[in-house]
Amino acid sequence: MAASNSPAYTVPGMTETEGGEVIGRLRMRLHALNDLALTLKHVHWNVVGPHFIAVHEMLDPQVDAVRAMVDATAERIATLGGSPTGTPGALTAERTWDDYSVGRAQAIEHLGALDVVYSGVIKDHRAAVAATDGIDPVTQDLLIEHLRSLELFQWFVRAHLESAGGTLSTGSANGLSEAGRAAAEQARRQP
Ligand SMILES: [Fe+2]
Repeated sequence: MAASNSPAYTVPGMTETEGGEVIGRLRMRLHALNDLALTLKHVHWNVVGPHFIAVHEMLDPQVDAVRAMVDATAERIATLGGSPTGTPGALTAERTWDDYSVGRAQAIEHLGALDVVYSGVIKDHRAAVAATDGIDPVTQDLLIEHLRSLELFQWFVRAHLESAGGTLSTGSANGLSEAGRAAAEQARRQP
């Protein structure tokens, strides 16, 4: 687990060391969810083309849900005796992923890139679920609840990238920009 200072107190039934470990893990999940909420709004504003309104309107409920996850994660950190860090400077200094790289672009290109964004957040959330196993079932339950929605939202994105045969146009793409280009290329080839 990520190293963290132990809090002065934590929830009953956990040691302060365990509390510190979970707080350290949640610190990065908070950064990831804050980053995701901002990125979804960025796409909401920058999507263009004939599928504008569908994607523009699809994203706002996702933003609302992710913001609720942000709040629940921050308050779990505080409940465990930690101090949630919600500043943009800490987020950009500590994150392990690149900034979203697509500006004004067609819907399908953003959706290809968003598929990669969701994959990163979900993979790391699942790792946090595994890391909290046997230490803090309450945090683990919270993260699983997030995953239920995050994986659903990724499916909403992926359904735009999926062929009738069930394959994703972003399947072999490496990285966010390449996934966006692969999705756009596939859309151009379709009759
Ligand atoms: Fe809006």
